[in-house]
Amino acid sequence: MDKKTKRLLGKGEIRKGIKMLAEKIDNDYEGASPVIICILKGAFVFLADLIRELKIPMKLDFISVSSYGDSSRTRGVVKILKDISIDIAGEDVIIVEDIVDTGLTLVSVHDFIKRKNPRSLKICTLLEKKVKRVKKVKIDYRGFVVPNKYVIGYGLDFGEKHRNLPEIRIMEL
Ligand code: IMP
Ligand code: MG
Repeated sequence: MDKKTKRLLGKGEIRKGIKMLAEKIDNDYEGASPVIICILKGAFVFLADLIRELKIPMKLDFISVSSYGDSSRTRGVVKILKDISIDIAGEDVIIVEDIVDTGLTLVSVHDFIKRKNPRSLKICTLLEKKVKRVKKVKIDYRGFVVPNKYVIGYGLDFGEKHRNLPEIRIMEL
């Protein structure tokens, strides 16, 4: 690896956190069959592990949004690069994200999905950074709060690299 990194969350910790999230979701959606929408690309590894811990029947879809570069200079509107394909009107929907930082991405995606009239809409994120929040986001399911550092691995990238790392590491930028 070209930059210095430090382990933040190992495989075992991640697995335990995801099991707890899945248990909560299973409880909350007992008797229901939610549509889970994964925000690409970062959330795909988390999604793959999360859904295999779920016991409730579920449907799956994907959405891809543009990242806006330096978040401090944006007005908070992300572009939808790939929309979902399932009709979610009247459905229970859970959005799955890798990490919430400023909140701009999730608020945009949440509002976009909300306009499709789901019956209910909740948010699940593996990681949350609290320091740079500019938009209020109601996170219903959260795995871990992480420090205000750049993290990579387990789906999260730096310049499209390191998504394949099995653990989550802090990158010294
Ligand atoms: P937000 O819109 O500022 O909340 O940022 C969320 C998006 O930025 C996430 O979907 C990630 O793709 C990306 N992101 C934010 N922080 C990190 C990080 O530490 N590592 C990798 N990606 C990040
Ligand atoms: Mg993301």
